[in-house]
Amino acid sequence: LKLALEDFEGCSLKATATNLVFAHGNPTAKLMFVGEAPGTEEDRNGIPFFGKSGQLLNKMIASIGLERSKVMVCNTVFWRPPGNRPPTPHEVALCLPFLERLIQIVTPSILVCLGGPASKTLFGTSEGIGRIRGKWFSYQNSGMPNPIDSTAMFHPKYLNQTPKQKHLAWRDLLTISEKL
Ligand code: URA
Repeated sequence: LKLALEDFEGCSLKATATNLVFAHGNPTAKLMFVGEAPGTEEDRNGIPFFGKSGQLLNKMIASIGLERSKVMVCNTVFWRPPGNRPPTPHEVALCLPFLERLIQIVTPSILVCLGGPASKTLFGTSEGIGRIRGKWFSYQNSGMPNPIDSTAMFHPKYLNQTPKQKHLAWRDLLTISEKL
């Protein structure tokens, strides 16, 4: 799948990015996180959630007794949008078949969307993250024989900016840990 993305010329984000930012972690992980888009540090290193948001994500993962190498982490798009702008719906749609295939390959027990944009992409919901975080969904795409348990959490970037909401993220992580 990574080779297919490297050869894919259909998404113009590739033209302005330094590196492909594919997925990172264990391809047979039970827990998978999906963020929105790579930022500057991710683009420089080719690894999702490498910068400040990634450092908090690492702490969140560690707080439930896991480590980054044991889970799978990726984004809805695989290249950094120029200037770190949000990806357009068209760019997200172009990358979606690759994300769906990645979820099929990993088939985690629990899929976690980080923030509103990833939740919108995978759950098709228009509700804000404040309303859907902590709720559980059944996620399935056309290549998957069975649905998987999925939920949404605040994005680490938002939690870095709004630390008073961290208690809700902690609650969500505990539920994820119990379910695992
Ligand atoms: N924010 C994201 O959504 N993804 C990253 O990889 C880094 C920051």
